[in-house]
Amino acid sequence: MEIIRTGTTVRIGGAVICAVDQSAFMRILIYTGKGGVGKTSVSVATAIKCAERGLRTIVISTDSAHSLSDSVDVAIGPSIRNIAKNLDGLEIDILKELEENWNDIRKYIFSFFASQGMDEISAKEMAVFPGMEFIAALFYLGRFYSGDEYDVVVVDTAPTADTLRLLSFPDVADWYFQHFYGLMKNFIRVARVTVGRVVSIPLPPEEVMREFERFNLRIKSVRKLLTNPEITSVRLVTNPEKMVISETMRAYTYLSLYDLNVEALIVNRVHSKNPLNTNEGKIREQENYIEMIESAFHPLKIFYSKLFPLEIVGLESVKRLGDELFGDTDPSVIFSRENPLKIVSKRGNTSIQLKVPFANRNEVELYTTRDTIVVGVGQYRRTIALPLGLYGREVESAEISDGVLKIKFREDSDAGGKEKRPAGRKGKRGY
Ligand SMILES: Nc1ncnc2c1ncn2[C@@H]1O[C@H](COP(=O)(O)OP(=O)(O)O)[C@@H](O)[C@H]1O
Ligand SMILES: [Mg+2]
Repeated sequence: MEIIRTGTTVRIGGAVICAVDQSAFMRILIYTGKGGVGKTSVSVATAIKCAERGLRTIVISTDSAHSLSDSVDVAIGPSIRNIAKNLDGLEIDILKELEENWNDIRKYIFSFFASQGMDEISAKEMAVFPGMEFIAALFYLGRFYSGDEYDVVVVDTAPTADTLRLLSFPDVADWYFQHFYGLMKNFIRVARVTVGRVVSIPLPPEEVMREFERFNLRIKSVRKLLTNPEITSVRLVTNPEKMVISETMRAYTYLSLYDLNVEALIVNRVHSKNPLNTNEGKIREQENYIEMIESAFHPLKIFYSKLFPLEIVGLESVKRLGDELFGDTDPSVIFSRENPLKIVSKRGNTSIQLKVPFANRNEVELYTTRDTIVVGVGQYRRTIALPLGLYGREVESAEISDGVLKIKFREDSDAGGKEKRPAGRKGKRGY
């Protein structure tokens, strides 16, 4: 039987059949990790292997210190450029994207805060709220997904801290829009009722409000792509070095907290994998770290690459890294589908289970409101919207075992009761 690719229009016996789900096959592979571990090289290597398998692939860089061009030795820029057969590249210029796509909103927010008496410089800072510079990258993912140009999008990211902000952004956006947008809506209503008494404050023009709404919807749909394990895989790139491993572990915790499917680990720059390497001391030192990595990240799929004697520059050289890492394995495959967040309901007892690998009991905090539960690990916060049946329910217990935070809720006795119920004393509890 012939397989019909979705998104294509097929003519059968005079009738036109259009496959509905446009992008059932598109994969988003996000590589993240500490600076210098090999994210750019591994991203390009993955993209080359995918392109060679006939998959239409684009590698995009969201790191403002773009090094895609250096890696492939071809000048890539802020517009999509073809690099090889089935392979395109793009280095996103965030400022350019913001100016071109969101300037109206930016200008309005600026004038709004300025009208409140804020000085010019602070008002401009308010207009660029945290994470805004990363939205452009997320929107590209949305655009590629709804189009039919690519089978695989490989995302080469900035070093871990920035990337975590990028990946958590859809949560921040939700908060931002609910509060800021709600405030503005209220404000406009009051302003209109009091007929011009508040004229000193500029009302957002209709088109700005509509742009806000479109903006929010698009962010929401990108979040869905990021948390769908069939579409998006996040892969951690690490090296067998103490400090790099610690950062990789932290990144794994936070990524899990944001529902992202981390399904593979790349251990790059391994001395012992190069038979010509005679640095015995380094080989032995790395052996210990590799053991540590294997036990800590089990059961993640792990790929290794040797430390090459020279820098990896140019398509041929990066392709060798791809061969070394993946061999005959298709790198676009999903190596694990397990979602880090689970809501389990058994005979009236409901629990939320969240993978928080490497978090220790003292780091995790819980807060509840009527319809959400906030899990904090270190400085990061994750708000989980509760299903309707859990509204207003008290937390009975919360414990971490085997890297899973299990939050049990009391059986439903007085649902819809108080507005705010603390998970423990003072609404905050450390575990
Ligand atoms: N396995 C490897 N062996 C030798 N050099 C490598 C290896 N992986 C990466 N490099 C080199 O290390 C430097 C940093 O790699 P890069 O991919 O740019 O890291 P990142 O994007 O994480 O900052 C580059 O010069 C690259 O050519
Ligand atoms: Mg890089």
